[in-house]
Amino acid sequence: MLAATHNFADLVEDLDVRGYALIRTAADFGALTAAAERFGAHVGSASMGARLLEAQDSPDWLPRHTEQLDDIEPLQYFALGCLESAVSGGATCLYDGRLAASALVDTHPELVKVQITYATPWRPTIATHPLIVFDRDHGPVLRYRSALETNTVDGPLPPGITEAQMYGLVEAAVSVAVAVVHRWRPGDLLIVNNRVMIHARQPFVGTRRMVRYRFDDPHFKTVIIGQ
Ligand SMILES: [Fe+2]
Repeated sequence: MLAATHNFADLVEDLDVRGYALIRTAADFGALTAAAERFGAHVGSASMGARLLEAQDSPDWLPRHTEQLDDIEPLQYFALGCLESAVSGGATCLYDGRLAASALVDTHPELVKVQITYATPWRPTIATHPLIVFDRDHGPVLRYRSALETNTVDGPLPPGITEAQMYGLVEAAVSVAVAVVHRWRPGDLLIVNNRVMIHARQPFVGTRRMVRYRFDDPHFKTVIIGQ
């Protein structure tokens, strides 16, 4: 099987440089999960949480976001596996948070002081993050979720810039940092470096069946890796 022989060293380099990597395997839960687990073992993850995501006809975009911003330290990696692609739409869009952050630092350096507190409707955890994180390996990186009622801007916003304008500036920077529009095929396992990339999902028509894997999620462990 392809996934079994994948060169994980190249794949980890892809995740570091490009921010994402793709494995092709069989389009069933067992094969996708086995491939995700092999990746997790390679990068030293102790556990992963697998969740089936099945939905029908979604007319809305999933807002752009860094995964799990309600935790102090967002996950480093998550992966999406495809069991069944939608009839149309449903692509996962990845944006390079390094590119978006660099553009914002150049044009609106005062935005580096902005902090946003993120909550979710489904968990009591909340966390505050700088809009732009200065990562040791990657430099400035955007850590972000589009405006939702569970976002609270803690400021300080630059003088003369409203919250709506701030979101507008960030969305524009994210829009020009699009790295890939990943159109799904059953058997795709797309791994994302969540510390550098922001993701979103197109509207879609038809049934879309995916599996999401979170590596080292402290709240959700369905697979203990290596056991
Ligand atoms: Fe997500």
